[in-house]
Amino acid sequence: MPVYHSASPEQTRALGEAVGRLADAGDVIALVGELGAGKTLFVGGLAGGLGIDRATYVSSPTFTILHRYHGRLPLYHIDLYRIETPEAFLSLGLDEYLQRDGVAAIEWAEHGWGMLPKEMLTLKLRYTGSDTREIEIVPVGDRYARLVQALMRKFPVLSMTTEWEG
Ligand SMILES: Nc1ncnc2c1ncn2[C@@H]1O[C@H](COP(=O)(O)OP(=O)(O)O)[C@@H](O)[C@H]1O
Ligand SMILES: [Mg+2]
Repeated sequence: MPVYHSASPEQTRALGEAVGRLADAGDVIALVGELGAGKTLFVGGLAGGLGIDRATYVSSPTFTILHRYHGRLPLYHIDLYRIETPEAFLSLGLDEYLQRDGVAAIEWAEHGWGMLPKEMLTLKLRYTGSDTREIEIVPVGDRYARLVQALMRKFPVLSMTTEWEG
């Protein structure tokens, strides 16, 4: 899987922007990584790539679970930090936002395993230093494999820093 080495918040944001430019209606993007890993920052970039005005983007939805934005496509920014069970996920109707008219970006996606589609793009963010992060990009399904190929063509930094495992 490609691994992107981000040397700054701006680089993480730029990766999110590049994904946002390539995103299509129905896409599901899962973000995994501890507090401070850069998940919210990445979604800020994603919002920019979807044409959402930077001023309207309201960082993490931790306390509201879902933020909805309107850009080139709707963006559903979901944070599952406080959603611990599949029942909670379903009773909030969060499944309604997946694979529909917009792009769903899901922080703490591991809390939703089992509720999330099998095919999606997962980003695993790891803290490697105060300003550096390692971002592993894991596509599952043809749609997301193509997205990652396009990402690597349009975002040369990614291919330059790519490490292939397995
Ligand atoms: N390379 C980097 N990529 C992303 N965030 C970084 C990086 N270096 C430092 N940071 C800082 O780490 C924090 C990440 O916060 P945030 O995106 O809210 O994380 P999360 O949503 O995963 O809890 C921000 O304060 C950001 O400035
Ligand atoms: Mg966050």
